[in-house]
Amino acid sequence: MRLLVFVLLCVWLVAGEQLERDQVLFVPEDWVHEGRVSPHEEVQLTFALMQQNVDRLEKLLQLVSDPDSRHYGKFFSLEEVASLVRPSQLTEKAVWTWLQGHGIENCSSVITRDFLLCTMSVQVAERLLPGSQFHRYRRGDQTVMRSSSQYSVHKDVAEHLHFVGGVLRFPLSGKENIKAWAGPKRPTKAFHLGVTPATLRTRYNLTAADIGSAANNSQAVAQFLEQYYHPADLAEFMSLFARGFKHLTEVERVVGKQGGGKAGLEASLDVEYIMSTGANIPTWVFTNPGRHETQEPFLQWMLLLSNMSAVPWVHTISYGDDEDSLSAAYMNRINNEFMKAGLRGITLLFASGDSGAGCRHLTKENVFRPSFPASSPYVTTVGGTSFKNPFKVTYEVTDYISGGGFSNVFTMPDYQVSAVSAFLKGAQPLPPESYFNRTGRAYPDMAALSDNYWVVTNLVPIPWVSGTSASTPVVGGILSLINDQRFLKGLPALGFLNPRLYKLKGAGLFDVTEGCHLGCLDEKVEGNGFCAASSWDPVTGWGTPNYPVLLDAFMDD
Ligand SMILES: *[C@@H]1O[C@H](CO)[C@@H](O)[C@H](O)[C@H]1NC(C)=O
Ligand SMILES: *[C@@H]1O[C@H](CO)[C@@H](O)[C@H](O)[C@H]1NC(C)=O
Ligand SMILES: *[C@@H]1O[C@H](CO)[C@@H](O)[C@H](O)[C@H]1NC(C)=O
Ligand SMILES: *[C@@H]1O[C@H](CO)[C@@H](O)[C@H](O)[C@H]1NC(C)=O
Ligand SMILES: *[C@@H]1O[C@H](CO)[C@@H](O)[C@H](O)[C@H]1NC(C)=O
Repeated sequence: MRLLVFVLLCVWLVAGEQLERDQVLFVPEDWVHEGRVSPHEEVQLTFALMQQNVDRLEKLLQLVSDPDSRHYGKFFSLEEVASLVRPSQLTEKAVWTWLQGHGIENCSSVITRDFLLCTMSVQVAERLLPGSQFHRYRRGDQTVMRSSSQYSVHKDVAEHLHFVGGVLRFPLSGKENIKAWAGPKRPTKAFHLGVTPATLRTRYNLTAADIGSAANNSQAVAQFLEQYYHPADLAEFMSLFARGFKHLTEVERVVGKQGGGKAGLEASLDVEYIMSTGANIPTWVFTNPGRHETQEPFLQWMLLLSNMSAVPWVHTISYGDDEDSLSAAYMNRINNEFMKAGLRGITLLFASGDSGAGCRHLTKENVFRPSFPASSPYVTTVGGTSFKNPFKVTYEVTDYISGGGFSNVFTMPDYQVSAVSAFLKGAQPLPPESYFNRTGRAYPDMAALSDNYWVVTNLVPIPWVSGTSASTPVVGGILSLINDQRFLKGLPALGFLNPRLYKLKGAGLFDVTEGCHLGCLDEKVEGNGFCAASSWDPVTGWGTPNYPVLLDAFMDD
């Protein structure tokens, strides 16, 4: 008996603590298992160190983002953010002692000191993280190493780490980038206008004079698929479609690995459209950060933001995963990273996803399936619309794919309580209560056209490209134009938009009130998911931008 207790105690001591017990372990179906990785191969793991003053970070973010606060727009530099959140000496020491105890010395940090990226052999990694076992998986010509089982860390460091990256989560594929992205949708009618820069500029009331000119303005797209935009595609797109307004035809800076090979549709789309609405504004592309086999590309992009003092003001990202598949530790830490960005005055826009409310099939019944980071309270989420009459640049209705709903993890932030309550009281009929969590963060926040875009990829113009990956860079470009006008007047950037956006109560936005999005196709949910309604709704948010009016509303301090 005593021996058994002793053995159990030893197991507990050695096994340590699991940081991400709730992370769902599964190999996405398109990855093929290639076997165990040899003990001498190298892995690169990312250690997310516990930060200090996270409550204060949140408070400060509220102050600098609230137009009624006297701290509005008083953003922090990255160095100031670093002195706020960087880990305590105790945390740094505990983590270093643990790593060095395993002979791990080859690490690099970031300016905020809250991440460590370390290289070690598989053998060392498996000893450091009891329970882990690294395997190699292949998808086409891309390979990754991941653990097939949960990891734990020594109990001495458990309270000093949020999680270890590069162990469990697989990179998303093109199809899953935004879940259910199905590539070009088939046209419903033989002839169609299609969406081009001219269409967008007309619909959103941008004149030829509405282009960027401020010094130091900038915008960016970030993408995490193994795909590239091609400079020649961008140039051809601009010469074919971007007539009648001044614009740039080249990306200012590529951060990350810009490879050769075929251009990706998604990458082409993002760059071509942010540079069409945000015309003449220097544009960066963050591409494929974290190409080592054990890195998580999205996480590596977050590290990059914390390691670069000067980054663009607006970032658009078409990326999302099922909220229920991710660990709470991971999502909460990513939220801290979003708060750090917001405190610097950076605007982060995420696509709301392309499967409406989503659907998760549980044994007893179905529930909607929110997507993260779309469901994060600290980013602005963009949904999608289409023209009611596809032959006229007028009235917009819901695009049935437009992602939206309520988080099951994050509570509803104050800035949206009255808007969302009004929707819940007013909109009839609502899906059954058992399908969604009415106390959660509700999204999207706004929308733009997401249907039937023209894109040039591999030098070929392609019609019928659809998805919220299209609407997000369109909104990004428009917000960059507003930043531009603000900079010309000596005003600070918009930063984290939502507190101010919700105070507008829809001013400057075309309210989208027609149509429902996808959800669970079962007899209990009439209309599948949610339906658009007047004012805010969980399908198109507050609606789509009417540039001159929105600019006016965002200019007065
Ligand atoms: C440290 O790791 C990097 C890869 O991240 C590798 O290129 C380098 O050679 C390593 N340095 C040492 C001293 O092992
Ligand atoms: C952060 O930037 C510094 C300086 O450029 C570099 O040495 C370090 O490796 C970077 N950190 C990471 C995690 O890439
Ligand atoms: C903007 O566009 C809408 C419809 O496209 C139009 O009705 C309106 O007059 C335009 N101008 C302003 C300043 O709203
Ligand atoms: C632009 O940035 C540079 C370097 O960061 C700075 O010296 C300059 O004052 C900035 N200009 C404006 C107009 O903000
Ligand atoms: C509903 O959301 C809240 C957070 O807003 C969460 O605490 C709760 O667990 C969620 N309920 C379900 C059934 O997921």
